[in-house]
Amino acid sequence: MTLIDVHLTPDYTSRALREDARAGLTADPKWLAPKWFYDARGSELFEQITRLPEYYPTRAEREILQARAAEIAQLTGAHTLVELGSGSSEKTRLLLDGLRDHGTLNTFVPLDVSETALREAAAAINADYPQLTVHGVVGDFTAHLDKLPGEAPRVVAFLGGTIGNLLPTERETFYTSVRDVLEPGEWLLVGTDLVKNPATLVAAYDDSAGVTGEFNRNVLRVLNRQLGADFDVDSFTHVAVWDPENEWIEMHLRADRAMKVLIPEIRLEVDFAEGEEMSTEISAKFHRYGVEAELGKAGFTPAAWWTDTEERYALSLWQAI
Ligand code: SAH
Ligand code: TRP
Repeated sequence: MTLIDVHLTPDYTSRALREDARAGLTADPKWLAPKWFYDARGSELFEQITRLPEYYPTRAEREILQARAAEIAQLTGAHTLVELGSGSSEKTRLLLDGLRDHGTLNTFVPLDVSETALREAAAAINADYPQLTVHGVVGDFTAHLDKLPGEAPRVVAFLGGTIGNLLPTERETFYTSVRDVLEPGEWLLVGTDLVKNPATLVAAYDDSAGVTGEFNRNVLRVLNRQLGADFDVDSFTHVAVWDPENEWIEMHLRADRAMKVLIPEIRLEVDFAEGEEMSTEISAKFHRYGVEAELGKAGFTPAAWWTDTEERYALSLWQAI
């Protein structure tokens, strides 16, 4: 059985996009919020990123899930698996298999802002796991956590290193709000990419085939389509830099020439200087001690910390206190 709740109505989304576009494009330096990458094309481009030779996080996380799914099922005895920012839920099948084999799981709750990705994933999972209730939520994990369905005990999975796309203050708010919707004893499973040599990191976010660049520029296509903007998408260059102070990769779009961009639907005219860089996304990298401090502060106690054999990536399990 499949149910889909839609908390992101066209009205809500269009208002949020307008507000974000105005705030970011009138700021200095300019910025755009990452959740707007993921229209149907953006979600498809992200799937291509996960298959790039340079983009190791997906493979590393899959390796850990393969090795640990049975243990996660054993430790948690979950009746519900919630997945935040679920995308295609491809790797999640390993968890579903582990929990199904353990015999406790009855409901899968994928949540994503991308309605197309969510509907496709929900249908595919429903076809392959007919005994599960798939209760999808089209929603924003920074706003709609109070709407999560499913019977306790639940495991909330947040995979793909998506936690690294939030700023430190946003991470704190996010972890606390997850803790707030859980009952004591319920679980959070988080995937975090680890600090490593900058060359490996930069390559993962600036692949030689240029897929990541296409993905980054896609946010401009979203603004063109949704807000009637006239960004000349091909005049922006994708830039990925490692910030050693903050230990995050910063993605920018650099204007190749001076440009004036009109955004009629928010009555805004934006000037770009030649070479001006607009920030579009960060991808923070972690150390174990940092993850432990942040989750501890939010009211979780550690249950397990697993890495891939090359120690590039960690999956960790936490229990709400
Ligand atoms: N979990 C998948 C996808 C990671 S990409 C994996 O590990 O491969 C990040 C996903 O989070 C995308 O599917 C995107 O649509 C979703 N996303 C980004 N911001 C979001 C938000 N604020 N609320 C809900 N989903 C969001
Ligand atoms: N959660 C992914 C990550 O930080 C998202 C991502 C991968 C991404 N590649 C990107 C975001 C390129 C923006 C640009 O690894």
